[in-house]
Amino acid sequence: MKAIIPAAGLGTRFLPMTKNSPKEMLPIIDKPAIQYVVEEAVNSGIDDIVIVTGRGKEVIENHFDIAYELEKILEERNDKEKLEEVRKISEIAEIFYVRQKMPLGLGHAIYVAKKHIDNETFAVLLGDDIIVAEEPCTKQIMKAYERYDASIIAVQEVDKKDVTKYGIIECEEVDDGVYKIKNLVEKPNIQEAPSNLAVMGRYILTPSIFGCIEKTKPGKNNEIQLTDALNLLLEKEDIYAYKFKGKRYDLGDKFDWLRINIEMALQREEFKQKLMELIRKIANEK
Ligand code: G1P
Repeated sequence: MKAIIPAAGLGTRFLPMTKNSPKEMLPIIDKPAIQYVVEEAVNSGIDDIVIVTGRGKEVIENHFDIAYELEKILEERNDKEKLEEVRKISEIAEIFYVRQKMPLGLGHAIYVAKKHIDNETFAVLLGDDIIVAEEPCTKQIMKAYERYDASIIAVQEVDKKDVTKYGIIECEEVDDGVYKIKNLVEKPNIQEAPSNLAVMGRYILTPSIFGCIEKTKPGKNNEIQLTDALNLLLEKEDIYAYKFKGKRYDLGDKFDWLRINIEMALQREEFKQKLMELIRKIANEK
């Protein structure tokens, strides 16, 4: 299976950092966020990835390219560990790039990768959603795809007050944590939300979605929304939602970015004790 990683967004919620630097390159400790997303795809068995970029996103391509000068210097210094780490990134998968020339919405971003996908079912991993899970979230929904032979959307329950930030599904539970979708609403207000099950940036989609995107008119925020195209797909095919196991972080959100850095650092031996001491110290001072 191939994957599309849309990474063309402007990142306005993370300004001024994102004025001249893509949000997908924000560091999570010592790795840019997009590397976690690519690694999730690879760890799910995907080795053909198309990243949808846009103006100012060249640095993403450079990150996954061979850094010849750097490798040469590390070789001369005989720094095998760092050399290995840097090389690994350029060999991680076959990555292709296609540009979304105008920010016309998520549905449109996926559509620009159509030629690369052909007529196959594919995965979508949003470049600004980081999911930490024992079994990669994409792998979890790929398994659900094998079982249901239909498009699958990864969902999680959110607080009622947060439904306004997500695509929300109207559904019927068909198995433990598996739902047959009846309708989707993009960022509804609290009163209109049909449930508190939110779309979390991981999808397995059948290629019929492309025809549906073609027919999708600009919706919320005047953008071609994937959510609206999915509602058109529902007229032809079943779509299921799968409640995945794992923690999801929204990279567009400054607090989530702080949270993931702290939580990840607490899992690393080199930082764990020092960071705990710092947190305790700060808490005692408050
Ligand atoms: C997009 C989708 C939305 C989904 C969200 C998950 O919105 O349109 O349905 O819930 O990603 O991150 P965005 O966050 O790009 O505005």
